[in-house]
Amino acid sequence: MTQELTSPSPAPQAPGTGRGPGWWRDAVIYQVYVRSFADSDGDGIGDLRGARERLPYLKDLGVDAVWLTPFYASPQADGGYDVADYRAVDPLFGTLQDADELIRTAHDLGLRVIVDIVPNHTSDRHPWFQDPELARQRYLFRPGKGESGELPPNDWESVFGGPAWTRTDRGDWYLHLFAPEQPDLNWDNPEVHAEFEAIMRFWLDLGVDGFRVDVAHGMIKAPGLPDIGHGAQAQLIGAQVLPFFDQDGVHAIHRAWRRLLDGYGDAHGKQVIGVAEAWAPTAERLALYVRPDELHQAFNFQFLNAPWQSDALRSVIDASLAATASVGAPTTWVLSNHDVVRHTTRLGGSLARARAATLLMLALPGSAYLYQGEELGLPEVTDLPDEVRQDPAFFRGGRATGAVGPGTDTESAPDGVAAGGQDGFRDGCRVPLPWSGELPPYGFGPGGSWLPQPADWGGLTVAAQTGDPASTLELYRAALELRRRLPGLGDGPMSWAPAPDGVLALTRPGLLCTVNTLGHDVGLPAPGTPLLSSAPVTVDDATAQLPGDSCTWWAI
Ligand code: GLC
Repeated sequence: MTQELTSPSPAPQAPGTGRGPGWWRDAVIYQVYVRSFADSDGDGIGDLRGARERLPYLKDLGVDAVWLTPFYASPQADGGYDVADYRAVDPLFGTLQDADELIRTAHDLGLRVIVDIVPNHTSDRHPWFQDPELARQRYLFRPGKGESGELPPNDWESVFGGPAWTRTDRGDWYLHLFAPEQPDLNWDNPEVHAEFEAIMRFWLDLGVDGFRVDVAHGMIKAPGLPDIGHGAQAQLIGAQVLPFFDQDGVHAIHRAWRRLLDGYGDAHGKQVIGVAEAWAPTAERLALYVRPDELHQAFNFQFLNAPWQSDALRSVIDASLAATASVGAPTTWVLSNHDVVRHTTRLGGSLARARAATLLMLALPGSAYLYQGEELGLPEVTDLPDEVRQDPAFFRGGRATGAVGPGTDTESAPDGVAAGGQDGFRDGCRVPLPWSGELPPYGFGPGGSWLPQPADWGGLTVAAQTGDPASTLELYRAALELRRRLPGLGDGPMSWAPAPDGVLALTRPGLLCTVNTLGHDVGLPAPGTPLLSSAPVTVDDATAQLPGDSCTWWAI
């Protein structure tokens, strides 16, 4: 049965506002995990200059924007998601001038720049937390339970493992949903709101085009901070509304930020966006974050967590499109990021599936996020020695990752690779990129690399793959080039076409996309002329042979 799914039409251009239909609605946005992208000074840690020097590569790859993970002053207890000064660049990554130059260079190349903002918590080294009086007002301190307050105020667990509370020398406790070095802010305090609005304006004035809002579902906690009543709470994230995640109160904050972003954009003739890293139990609840007066996009982790199985993929795609259409927002697709197992490894350790999944994602209506290195087909590094690991969850005995919820396709994960990465941790997807050469650090920088790179990555470097039509890098380049050229891709309508079991067929204007999720060839009447395929497709006597685990775009 053919089912018509219509993605919402873009909002009409408001005269004189520079808003237009919305560049983000079908943008391909590339995540730069700064410390692992490119190192300019030889300390083994990627930096802003290194990133700026490689921007032409991203332009050539064909993306529309880059999202930079936190590069702010930070003790680095959680890879920079513990910010001590939101207006300063950490010396590890460079200077404010480097940030300014990076933004200018990106704009000169026609690339937009999104930066992270971390509003749920700061570093414990933040001046507010360092000052006991200020800390009491701006963070969540509570007396302990028990005869002498020796027990935590409630039963909440940190996402990284262990209790979500730490006791101070003064005897009271403070809340940290992540590491103890990341105290949660008190969003009942108007000074916290004012400060984050000022921080946003600071970066907007430096020219950024938007913010990726870290833990956008976290800032508001249920009144009275009630107990949950049972353990293993990390498993519940994204599966149900928790007293600390996905509380309805967060939406007022996002509305205020939308007003700020629109106001700033209107005043400067540009469109600046907010993208929510939000974990919600259903596609409908996630869609609340992208209502017309809230943020512009939300990461669609339901798609990321879908198993490689045609029915499951189809239902997650349908649910995602329907939910966002109900609020008039575009859907945002993502397969990999710095918190999850790289999709090459997650999808059964199969590069074929990863390539097919990417082509499927890029054929869907809406915007797509790419994580650095996926265009090289990099696998998760699963044999890092303990002494090099840096993920705070590893040291806290937690299993889960950042705010990564349940439902990852553990069944198709290879032995020994848990959903969250190596043993459930996140360093394995953060290994520095291989750019060129046969030996580590593969052109990452003039020194070494902060995490060891595998000895067999010589064939995966950008240099090795460039110009090889069979390479994953050239597949990404070709797909992104077609996406720019074919008006039917990106935002717009999509419908399902009939297909054999295990195969998906979806049509976009002028294009049909087939996905064979089975491990063997499937024959079907050739639907058109092949435009691009993740694996060699043959057409004989009007019959197409779709290779196992492949995706093909057909001109129709
Ligand atoms: C988000 C980030 C993750 C971080 C966490 C706490 O989930 O993506 O890397 O650890 O927030 O800030």
